[in-house]
Amino acid sequence: MSVDAVMAEINRFLGCETPDAWIDAALNNQEILLIDHANCEKKAATTAMNLLYKHIDRDDLLKKMSQLAREELLHFEQVINLMKERGIGYRHVSSSRYAAGLRDAVRKGGIDELVDVLIVGAFIEARSCERFARLAPFLDEKLAKFYRSLLKSEGRHYQDYLGLAAQYAGYPIDTRVAEFRALEQELIESPDESFRFHSGVPAVA
Ligand SMILES: [Fe+2]
Ligand SMILES: [Fe+2]
Repeated sequence: MSVDAVMAEINRFLGCETPDAWIDAALNNQEILLIDHANCEKKAATTAMNLLYKHIDRDDLLKKMSQLAREELLHFEQVINLMKERGIGYRHVSSSRYAAGLRDAVRKGGIDELVDVLIVGAFIEARSCERFARLAPFLDEKLAKFYRSLLKSEGRHYQDYLGLAAQYAGYPIDTRVAEFRALEQELIESPDESFRFHSGVPAVA
């Protein structure tokens, strides 16, 4: 599948595109953007590792999540290197409400929990991919090139998560995907106090 085809699929999958106000905030807060981006890559690796520990009987999941965790850690190193080049120190930045907001809706226990975690993973990867694509035209050449390179792997991660969710559910996941789509859209389009990689519309102070 070409990058354009994956992007088209992701734009259909997501309930909305990133609001212009978030793009403006990102361009004005590139330091926080990069620090929080580094945190997101680290957390993405952790999510995949947690699945590796919990689901040792699912071969396809082990293979895909092991590869995904390695790629996320590589992205983490790449972001850290880029920050260093730019004289941006790695400091503590609190998490955004986004991932926690999605995780709160995950059903507890059994296959439903696994399916929901995988669907949430698909949305986080899809949104990351969409934001890299939206930001790239406005960034300096080096950061734009890096973000375009991330598109491909995050697009594949989206497909892996969604594919595993459909594979393991044993029932059609469309309804559940639609519920998470509405929640994700709400988190992206409603006012958000703090600017982060996955934050909503910047609240007017
Ligand atoms: Fe990544
Ligand atoms: Fe990813």
